Amino acid sequence: MSIRYIEETKQLILETKNTAYQMKIDELGYLQHLYYGPKLGQNDMSYPFRIYDHGFSGNPYDMRQNRAYSLDSMSQEYTSFGVGDFRVTSIRASCSDGSRCAEFRYEEHEILDGKYAIPGLPSVYDSGQIAQTLIVTLIDKPANIRIKLYYGVFEELDIITRAAEIINAGYEIVWLRKACSMCLELPFGEWDMIHFHGRHCMERQPERVPLFHGVHSISSGRGMSSHQHNPFVILCDREATEDSGVCYGVMLMYSGNHKTEIELDQFDCVRVVTGLSDDRFRWELASEASFFTPEVILSCADGLTELSYNYHRVIRHNVVRGEYKLSHRPVLINNWEATYFDFNEEKLLSIAEKAKELGIEMFVLDDGWFKNRNDDNAGLGDWIPDTRKLPNGLESLIAKINDMGLRFGLWIEPEMVNEDSDLYRAHPDWALTAPNRAPMMARNQLALDLSRREVHEYLFQTIAGLLEKYNITYIKWDFNRPLADVYSHSTPSPRQGEVAHRYYLSLYRLYERLTKAFPHVLFEGCAGGGGRFDAGMLHYSPQIWCSDNTDAISRLTIQYGTSFGYPASTVGAHVSASPNHQTGRKTPLRTRGIVAMSGTFGYELDLSLLSDEDCEEIKEQIKRFKEIEPIVHDGKLYRLSKLSDSAHYMAWQFVSPDQSRSVLNIVVTNPLANSAPVHVNLKGLLPDEIYSVNGEFEVLGSALMQGGYTFPRLTGDYPAMQLDIVKIG
Ligand code: GLA
Repeated sequence: MSIRYIEETKQLILETKNTAYQMKIDELGYLQHLYYGPKLGQNDMSYPFRIYDHGFSGNPYDMRQNRAYSLDSMSQEYTSFGVGDFRVTSIRASCSDGSRCAEFRYEEHEILDGKYAIPGLPSVYDSGQIAQTLIVTLIDKPANIRIKLYYGVFEELDIITRAAEIINAGYEIVWLRKACSMCLELPFGEWDMIHFHGRHCMERQPERVPLFHGVHSISSGRGMSSHQHNPFVILCDREATEDSGVCYGVMLMYSGNHKTEIELDQFDCVRVVTGLSDDRFRWELASEASFFTPEVILSCADGLTELSYNYHRVIRHNVVRGEYKLSHRPVLINNWEATYFDFNEEKLLSIAEKAKELGIEMFVLDDGWFKNRNDDNAGLGDWIPDTRKLPNGLESLIAKINDMGLRFGLWIEPEMVNEDSDLYRAHPDWALTAPNRAPMMARNQLALDLSRREVHEYLFQTIAGLLEKYNITYIKWDFNRPLADVYSHSTPSPRQGEVAHRYYLSLYRLYERLTKAFPHVLFEGCAGGGGRFDAGMLHYSPQIWCSDNTDAISRLTIQYGTSFGYPASTVGAHVSASPNHQTGRKTPLRTRGIVAMSGTFGYELDLSLLSDEDCEEIKEQIKRFKEIEPIVHDGKLYRLSKLSDSAHYMAWQFVSPDQSRSVLNIVVTNPLANSAPVHVNLKGLLPDEIYSVNGEFEVLGSALMQGGYTFPRLTGDYPAMQLDIVKIG
């Protein structure tokens, strides 16, 4: 049993293999947070809470004689609002009588076998690990608001999930202004925060900073989880490294506006509140209606490597679904960087032919295949093949590609519309635009108002129509602008604050319907590269295009940052041309191959321009990727170099779950003359077993881990090496 209730002490205890989580219902019925961290045995963790008078922090009325008791200093599972806890709050609402306060006290709890699901939202599911669920119900009687706190415990995975359901238990409308998924408190310790910021073409750059007093806010109000701030934050002990030190991960499973607030308060306690962004949010909660928050995936581990591995496993096994979840992902050729909008059937077929010859398995036709789409100013919305570029139709192109023995994939950007499109001309009110205001344009396109039923239905019918008519086995689903002017022409004005979230409820439902109806189609998410790279999208699309920056050297840090939360099997990575189209940098084909092999592998360049020598190398790369794919996708990742090393080199290693095989990678980003050689200590091997290093010599695992491995001197432009470490016998 991973969840227990101890009646005498009124404690609720959640346990995973290596961690414990404790809470307690106190004498007033508040649900206090006691502990989350490394496993403790039976200990009741209420003893460290020395409750003393905190001066300017007030006391609940029932405790007015005890000035030491204050909501403002107490660790809680979910906060009150407006009644004297002045730190960041998990919830805010305007009640029917105009008051804006509530304090939630324990009503009941239940412990269930299996993992709860959240209606309409993606959530972690049980895939045979035997999860358990705890639901604690809290109530504020004057405000008539009931809150159910959901906890999912995955014992084997060291994962605890959280979500909340907010229920209007009264007769009048309640307006929710903020509705977060959880509050987590770290009452003791000194913590660093690692977050993943970035921009288009440079997503998920890790930044580690010590917490300072005040509120740190990691958020997106762009209508997408965003290139700028990924909804994943790590808090770790100031001394924590890849190998040791307490580390907590807080990952929100949501693709729209989000906010994680981390407050270091006056008493040096840390509070983390995460969930939907409250920016422009206002939700009408009718009598007896429920509001479900998105889910948070929490993990605690010793060291960053272990923390990442916990997320890699849970995402791969309990977030991603469908036929491609654990299976081989086809090696693809995408025509975008080969042709951009300028192609015809002949050109595409020449790329496909070459691709087949090299061992590539799927041809993906990117943007530009539909009516009027000769540049990015027109056409979005009209998903009808362009008969000028494809005079024999899409059907004939696909048939020819299939005849070559290649599968066919197609790019779409269904959530968007150009003003210059038949769809927009027929339904201008289907776009998100504010009344009497010229909308912000981005890439000369508008976003469709997916919160509208007709838009949802139109998109389902359109995409299903394509998938029914054509032999398409892969869809690249793009989203190329942030959402601004978020106003729905079909929603009454007091409820406009619901539109941004309703957009995502509709998007998730659309994906759900399509993935159910077309289980054989592999979906790859995309948003100008990795602008919507989050656990929410991964519930529907097993892989996501990681960045529009395909430069191998830029990709080193993008993929490094991404790896803290997300497994390599989710990371769309392609070999592109040199010089690279985004940076102009020249890199060897070998380096580009090694970097792209740490994701879902493919090519995105004009294959007809390659030398015979390059073609031979590509054939080898594809064979190689297929050989190591199970180790890369299922194995444990060890980041052997730090971000600060990346100015010189980057080294990383995958180890198969049985520790019998490992793939060691290095890219030298700045070869130095007569410098110390790059030397790394390998990790994750069996110390007493003998391993062959690239077939060149044999040595004990302990030797490679303690003594390490010295790379030969690698010179020239961005040289790289990939080595096989294989257990003998
Ligand atoms: C986005 C994607 C690219 C490509 C273009 C097409 O930028 O991230 O990979 O598909 O759109 O317009």
